[in-house]
Amino acid sequence: MNKRIAVLPGDGIGPEVMSGAVRVLQEISDCFHHNFIFEEGLIGGSAIDEYGNPLPESTLNLCKESDAILLGAVGGPKWDSISQSIRPEQGLLKLRKEMGLFANLRPVSAFQPLIHASTLKKEVVENVDLLIVRELTGGLYFGEPSERRGENKETAIDTLVYHLHEIERVVEKAFQLARKRRKKVTSVDKANVLESSRMWREVVNQVAKKYPDVIVEHMLVDSTAMQLIYRPEQFDVIVTENLFGDILSDEASMITGSLGMLPSASLRSDLVGLYEPVHGSAPDIAGKNQANPLGMILSAALMLKYSFGLDKEANIIEEAVMNTLNEGYHTGDLNLEHGKQIGTSEMINKIIDSINENQAITGILTAYI
Ligand code: IPM
Ligand code: MN
Repeated sequence: MNKRIAVLPGDGIGPEVMSGAVRVLQEISDCFHHNFIFEEGLIGGSAIDEYGNPLPESTLNLCKESDAILLGAVGGPKWDSISQSIRPEQGLLKLRKEMGLFANLRPVSAFQPLIHASTLKKEVVENVDLLIVRELTGGLYFGEPSERRGENKETAIDTLVYHLHEIERVVEKAFQLARKRRKKVTSVDKANVLESSRMWREVVNQVAKKYPDVIVEHMLVDSTAMQLIYRPEQFDVIVTENLFGDILSDEASMITGSLGMLPSASLRSDLVGLYEPVHGSAPDIAGKNQANPLGMILSAALMLKYSFGLDKEANIIEEAVMNTLNEGYHTGDLNLEHGKQIGTSEMINKIIDSINENQAITGILTAYI
């Protein structure tokens, strides 16, 4: 299979975790005789430094010509000055918008070897298997006008705008995904306060009619925040607007013990997608070989699954991650009493070794058959 992959490492720990994903994919493509072409582009702070623009034309064009995009992380204190109107995050937001990637999938499930790394009790987290579907190209992130007003700029304005079709397409996606899972959709909103949420509810009820086999419930976002740490196993698919999804997914990550574990896929109606870990650029540990590369590596597995239809290859990566965790290896972000703490590059090597072992075993078995 020939595929062009845009590689955008970004800032902070982005380049370190990205090197892991690319090495893993290279290994997979060698084993299965695929031809993955990796092409790098600048985004975020590193693109500001080079071009004065967090999403240069060249990067956007590269993404538009690729079959899928891998992204590390953007941002950091270097570009943090509030008065500065050019911010690294704008690069990521513009990329999501320009590429039309409206559905952000953030799966959260308990990794058995990491059960004790969660701050929550074992019995609360052990059966969790949920999927947050976050609307990604609308809402407060893209409201207009977003500005400071008044003579002394004493008023700040952000607007929460949703168009019917924007809600419809993401809700539709959530129902389709629920059908392949445990057939339950929890739609999260703030309908007791926000008009956009009341419209959101109407759309969900409308779409739900097409999926009589899927159970649908509405939950207010504050209550969801509470339920997520009270009884997270009740959730299957959660669908929600951009900012609510951003906040709830960080909260849900603690079920796994670390934000560093979580992958994400940002999709549109065709097969093109952007794959990035849920975590940020973690500038405090950047360049120190301490970052957890698993969220990025698992994002690469999601790319194989969703954009390329290579389920078998994706499963091999996911198994390699599980096996490595089962052997007790983990990076410093995970608080495990009896684990073996290793660095970023060692973790990447372990995953590669595990993929090779798996392949060797499969090879032997095939030879015997
Ligand atoms: C995320 C991040 C981004 C977001 C930032 C970096 C703009 O927090 O992907 O969750 O808020 O969407
Ligand atoms: Mn976030």
